[in-house]
Amino acid sequence: METYFTVLLVSILLMSCCAAVENTNCTSDANCTTINSECDTSISRCRCGIRFYDSGTNCQPRGYNGEDCTDNVANSCLFTGQLVCKNDNKCSCPNTDTHYWDATSMTCKPKKPLGGDCSAAIECLVANSECATKCQCQVNIYDTDNADSGGTCEPFGGTSSEVSVGKELEANVTGLTPGVMYTITVISVDSNSRSAVQKTSPQPVNQATSMF
Ligand SMILES: *[C@@H]1O[C@H](CO)[C@@H](O)[C@H](O)[C@H]1NC(C)=O
Ligand SMILES: *[C@@H]1O[C@H](CO)[C@@H](O)[C@H](O)[C@H]1NC(C)=O
Ligand SMILES: *[C@@H]1O[C@H](CO)[C@@H](O)[C@H](O)[C@H]1NC(C)=O
Repeated sequence: METYFTVLLVSILLMSCCAAVENTNCTSDANCTTINSECDTSISRCRCGIRFYDSGTNCQPRGYNGEDCTDNVANSCLFTGQLVCKNDNKCSCPNTDTHYWDATSMTCKPKKPLGGDCSAAIECLVANSECATKCQCQVNIYDTDNADSGGTCEPFGGTSSEVSVGKELEANVTGLTPGVMYTITVISVDSNSRSAVQKTSPQPVNQATSMF
């Protein structure tokens, strides 16, 4: 009795899994009663319409970027080969760290380095960057490589020896040990335009501190 019950339960679970719509024979769409299903006359089986997927019980709309889907269910997102269903049951590009969804071409495109043309911040690859017409560092953050393109965006004070002096022509640097030779590098940031081309004085100034 117990064995029979278990077998019955398993067969009910199997039946309710995975392809409820495709199990139905048909000769025309009228035979396919599940909402948003249709008859695939080449195999005489019902299937979900092209913009829908079989959730196991009914036909659900396939998700656009950011929309709902079912993890591990093939084609539960639109744009097969581009969008995938992540384990949070949302559609997105396979790697959102390196790629963004481009709604115009309906494809996942590689994010852009500093200096790359952009129309939204999501297109910019580097942390602490933003989009003007090109990817650039955010306010009060500087481009480490001092070049038209590439580099990373680092906040002032990002390393222990960096001192932000603000908008000054002169600055007092404190906390130095007398008698020690320091290399002082001046990093200047064009914070008005923050264009990708940021002029800095790349030559370090060697400055010994005096004892008094
Ligand atoms: C569906 O069709 C197949 C082949 O035509 C047939 O063997 C099967 O019994 C049918 N199933 C149902 C549920 O009508
Ligand atoms: C499909 O519907 C037609 C018309 O109602 C019916 O004659 C036929 O038996 C149905 N076929 C299946 C496989 O249900
Ligand atoms: C630097 O320190 C000197 C002496 O304390 C002071 O007179 C001067 O205004 C300071 N300069 C700046 C830019 O803070």
